[in-house]
Amino acid sequence: MSDKRIYLTTPIYYVNARPHIGHAYTTIVCDVVRRYYRLLGYDTYFLTGTDEHGTKVLQAAEREGLTPLQFADRNSQAFRDLWPQLSIVPDDFIRTTEARHKRVVARILQNLYDRGEIYFERYGGPYCVGCERFFTETELAESGGLCPDHQTQPVWIEEQNYFFRMSNYQQWLIDHIRANPDFIRPERYRNEILSFLAEPLRDLCISRPASRLPWGIPLPFDPNYVTYVWFDALVNYVSALDWPDGERFARYWPAAEHYIAKDILKPHAVYWPTMLRAAGIPVYRHLNVHGYWKSGEFKMSKSLGNVTNPLDLATVYGVDALRYFLMREMVFGLDAAFEETAFNERYNSNLADDLGNLLSRLTAMIHKYCGGRVPPAHALEPDDEAVLAQADAVVRSAPQWLDELKFHQLIEETLQAVRALNRYINDRAPWALARQGRRDRVETILHTAARGAVVALQLLEPVMPTKMAEALSWFGLEMNPAGIDLQLLKVGAPVAAGQVLFPKVRLDEEKPAETTGAAKPAVAAAIKNPKSTLQNGKPAMSEITFEEFQKLDLRVARVLEAAPVEGAQKLVRLLIDLGAEQRQIVAGIAQHYAPEQLVGKTIVVVANLAPRKLRGLLSQGMLLAAHDGDALRLVTTDAACAPGSPVS
Ligand code: ME8
Ligand code: MG
Repeated sequence: MSDKRIYLTTPIYYVNARPHIGHAYTTIVCDVVRRYYRLLGYDTYFLTGTDEHGTKVLQAAEREGLTPLQFADRNSQAFRDLWPQLSIVPDDFIRTTEARHKRVVARILQNLYDRGEIYFERYGGPYCVGCERFFTETELAESGGLCPDHQTQPVWIEEQNYFFRMSNYQQWLIDHIRANPDFIRPERYRNEILSFLAEPLRDLCISRPASRLPWGIPLPFDPNYVTYVWFDALVNYVSALDWPDGERFARYWPAAEHYIAKDILKPHAVYWPTMLRAAGIPVYRHLNVHGYWKSGEFKMSKSLGNVTNPLDLATVYGVDALRYFLMREMVFGLDAAFEETAFNERYNSNLADDLGNLLSRLTAMIHKYCGGRVPPAHALEPDDEAVLAQADAVVRSAPQWLDELKFHQLIEETLQAVRALNRYINDRAPWALARQGRRDRVETILHTAARGAVVALQLLEPVMPTKMAEALSWFGLEMNPAGIDLQLLKVGAPVAAGQVLFPKVRLDEEKPAETTGAAKPAVAAAIKNPKSTLQNGKPAMSEITFEEFQKLDLRVARVLEAAPVEGAQKLVRLLIDLGAEQRQIVAGIAQHYAPEQLVGKTIVVVANLAPRKLRGLLSQGMLLAAHDGDALRLVTTDAACAPGSPVS
């Protein structure tokens, strides 16, 4: 049975722009949930991918002068490359342009057509290209005629098309949702769908004329049409499992858990289950719907351009801290604000203070009072038992919170246990007991605190796998792959002290960044090494690891064009050749080089820097230059070198 199996899916993201914090969130949730379930002994499978057909992608490709496939290749890769950088480890990454996917879409369409589930008819209605769907007049009435998500005027489109008899499944769907109260969850989204289904459900237009939209999967029964992008995209969840005969389909489909945000509730809660039903495929187990990360009052979205690049914050605070913030801050199902100030505060209070301090004082005291080895516990007193019981209770409740999508609660209760351990140390004051020569009590207290801390580290491991492994290693421990282990602590193991897991990050006031390439000001100014000294009037940088250095994608590039930027004395706009692509960067070097001096030069650029706008111009990367007093010299190679060559 599917009892101890779980199949986790994210939406497949549109490749019309680069990944942002919203995409990172859903994908991190699935990664975290899968890591927890793996600890609970589940057989897990985790799918993500990209949605590559449709008008939006075609139009975005045209704007950049690329074929849709070239464009999709490049942008799909940006998603695929980002996930490991956020410690996200999916089992599969599906692209809707892959043959394995197109084959399954065609098969399902043909099957539905042969059985009369699809018919041909003339249709007209308001259509939002951003959403890739027709709206009803009632839906638009609520938002003053504009698309509620994109704030744009839908266009009227009229044409002959193929329709899926979705209306035939309306009553079945209502009954299914009623009979399975957590089919769509949290409840607010179930209610939203039930009230939507209280009105008559219309049939679904599932084709687009190839003359208008050539970029899609052709209908197997009419080559003049391509498949509506949603009908194509939703099928990814089963095509990736190799439906109908795949071993993975048999194994994981009965345990399907879809994770999405509320923007795509309707396709997932209405189109998809009715499509499955019509095709004779059992429906998914749960649809798990979260709210929006917002900046100001708007949903962050590529189309609105108010997005945060997840790596900006990961660069400053670390990947694990980003995962922590996203999982802790958002109550699954509700909207949350993405503010760097809130991030900074949570980071400093929960991670640097609560957890970080517990570990540093504990390891320091084990060195001071116990010879640097995990001390044994002697007779436990009620206080000792109580503080351990609190951590152990979190472990016992974790499966239920997971099942209820209460990730923030699981994390918060773990932090409560950490705070209780800090209070316990304060109250028991082992330093005073040591002065009184009460060695047994000192050992028992430090043992108890360490055992509780090690339980908390394990509870947080799915959220912060790298940092928690590091902290466990200070106690000579590793995660037990068989699950959270209350007895993991080993008496007598040597303990490492004097290390800082989460260095405090101070938010400096925003300063306008002068030259291009500096990350967002507040972010860039943040890390302050306590040991740093001034060199050449600039703060020396804190040490980084080799892995951190490897995150920089440095590349050789050739300057193809250079032009001054109007109204900005210091800026010059460059078009550079990076081998595989051309890009625009805006650099603060105009006072050192005339544009004509730059053309043809070989330079070195940071190619994976988050794009930013300077004077309204998009800068996609940053060039490297040496600053010798007031002089500035471009970094170059000492012999000819192909554009795009990596620098390391
Ligand atoms: O809709 N807050 O792709 P998409 C939270 N291709 N999550 C957000 C978010 C935000 N501000 N912005 C995006 C599509 N997301 C279709 C899906 S599935 C068969 C096809 C996340 O690139 C969230 O998971 O617009 C949301 O549902 C998804 O990105 C939409 O991604
Ligand atoms: Mg979207």
